[in-house]
Amino acid sequence: MWPEKLHRAIRHSVFAGGKRLRPILCLAAGETAGAPPGRLLAPACALEMIHTYSLIHDDLPALDNDDLRRGVPTCHVQFGEATAILAGDALLTHGLGTLARFPEGGEFAAAKIRVLETVVEAIGTRGMIGGQAADLGAEDEHDPSEALVLSIHENKTGRLIRASLAVGAILSGAPRDVLRSLETYGRAVGLAFQIKDDLLDVEADAATLGKSAGKDAAAGKATFPAVWGVERSRAMLSEQIEQAIESARGLPARGGRLPELARYVEERNK
Ligand code: IPE
Ligand code: IPE
Ligand code: MG
Ligand code: MG
Ligand code: MG
Repeated sequence: MWPEKLHRAIRHSVFAGGKRLRPILCLAAGETAGAPPGRLLAPACALEMIHTYSLIHDDLPALDNDDLRRGVPTCHVQFGEATAILAGDALLTHGLGTLARFPEGGEFAAAKIRVLETVVEAIGTRGMIGGQAADLGAEDEHDPSEALVLSIHENKTGRLIRASLAVGAILSGAPRDVLRSLETYGRAVGLAFQIKDDLLDVEADAATLGKSAGKDAAAGKATFPAVWGVERSRAMLSEQIEQAIESARGLPARGGRLPELARYVEERNK
């Protein structure tokens, strides 16, 4: 379908796989909040589109300049830089459009506006994109502060993870206290997820990860291992996961799948 090359590039990145963590968290939040199965499928896909856009742009030569993603050549390596930029633009646009449209039905109109406000706030200049800008800016910092690294991680990674949980809860009509517990859970899991990402960059290999390894230190990135060291980073990862599990247990159905998802974030090897 026209425009063929652009659609091929989008499919190349979206369907290469990936852990699908953000859509899974959205669905798991909806499950504990009691949403009927099916209602959240399209919004969950939208979150994965937005996440994949962020990966395509993160890998570009002007940002992290990576050649491998999800076990295949990065979008710009396979299709050229211009097409990769456009593929990211298209995934962001289509993701937001999907959130505006689904679930269909007038009864969801107000909830969908809240969802869009939440997601746009989370991925904008005071969220994910701000975090990406700070991540790049910090490459020139010789001695990044602990506060700077925490802020980069919270924004570039944590915000979309928290928003994914919020989308599931909002579209389930969850009460305020459930939203608050999910927020606490998401804050911990989001930070833990990026600590683990930093640790895997140090400890794993590209064949397992499906993306480059060992590049953060080479690029001078402000990471957890760079600032706290590997042992302390591992301990902080575990602390965050225990906190996440504790807040999930206070949710309806003792958090459903959320506690085991937090454990997965700690133990994953890619
Ligand atoms: C990688 O995200 C980028 C970060 C925010 C750390 P994931 O590790 O979730 O990547 P995929 O979706 O599984 O490929
Ligand atoms: C990427 O962080 C965060 C976003 C894409 C928003 P990283 O640069 O650490 O992610 P990887 O390691 O390339 O997956
Ligand atoms: Mg990056
Ligand atoms: Mg990167
Ligand atoms: Mg990384």
